[in-house]
Amino acid sequence: MNQHAPIQHDPSTHDLIQIRPKDLAGRFPDRPFPTRHSLSGHSLLTLPSLAELARALPRDQVEYSAGDLAPNQRPEDVKMLNLSPDEVVRRIETANAWMVLKRVESDPAYSALVNDALLSVARQRGFATLEEAGFHDIQGFIFVSSANAVTPFHFDAEENFFVQIRGDKFFHIFDNADRALVSEEELEISPAKHRNLAYREEFEERAEVYAMKEGDGMFVPYLWPHWVRTGSSWSISMAITWKSPQVSRNNTLLTANAMLRSMGYPQAAPGSRPVLDAVKVAGLRTARAVVEPLRRSERMRRALRGLVFGRKANYYYNEDKAA
Ligand SMILES: [Fe+2]
Repeated sequence: MNQHAPIQHDPSTHDLIQIRPKDLAGRFPDRPFPTRHSLSGHSLLTLPSLAELARALPRDQVEYSAGDLAPNQRPEDVKMLNLSPDEVVRRIETANAWMVLKRVESDPAYSALVNDALLSVARQRGFATLEEAGFHDIQGFIFVSSANAVTPFHFDAEENFFVQIRGDKFFHIFDNADRALVSEEELEISPAKHRNLAYREEFEERAEVYAMKEGDGMFVPYLWPHWVRTGSSWSISMAITWKSPQVSRNNTLLTANAMLRSMGYPQAAPGSRPVLDAVKVAGLRTARAVVEPLRRSERMRRALRGLVFGRKANYYYNEDKAA
């Protein structure tokens, strides 16, 4: 295990996310690195604002459960909480809960916040706009968790700047090139799969651990597996994510491969058969364009997920288990 020391804040900067030039030059976007940020104390990131957001977001953008999970948590054993989303936020100090508010940029105020934060990164990279910097499909995910809550081992199919707003967090991240940890099949993307990956104790010696306090942050590269735990007090964090055109294309390919595998046709890893990769990407993009207009309502999204990927694809609806 390789522990990272936090870096110092540069008081001369007005950037919302602050990155050392040597990390931008030497590590972005392939390897993680520590950052600082100035988002703690922002009025949108306080418990009253987040309770209101949790109440207002469509139900499929809010996921929560008990917080005392293990890095190798079996999804079927996750305990659900019999509280409404806004109650979980208001009682986070004592609720022993873990919550994520997804796609918070669907609210215009949060959209402005995540865009401003990424624009500060774009400028440090020498670009005037988000578009020029290749920051597309920008999304924000806010985590509200009780003390000692664990986010089990998983990867995210996007790049992100993770910012610690309140409390302490320990982010254990692992090299994505290490197939001994996560297999090619596990890297394929399907809503039918639970996010949690198989994790074994012996993985830990390969972890890089970022110990973050309020004001600290880090860069999380595309598909790098990680598990996260909160320190001894409740915590608020935010992942500010985007997808470059290359990431979007690779995600489409990983989704096509998962669908083909589920029909009994396992596929070669992305990149090993480039022409076939291109055919699969084009095919799935066409199919999605047909279905997209149907996805505007939450009921239709839920029905479509169930139809294409099976009942498990709607696992984060709490009502079955909480009852
Ligand atoms: Fe994550």
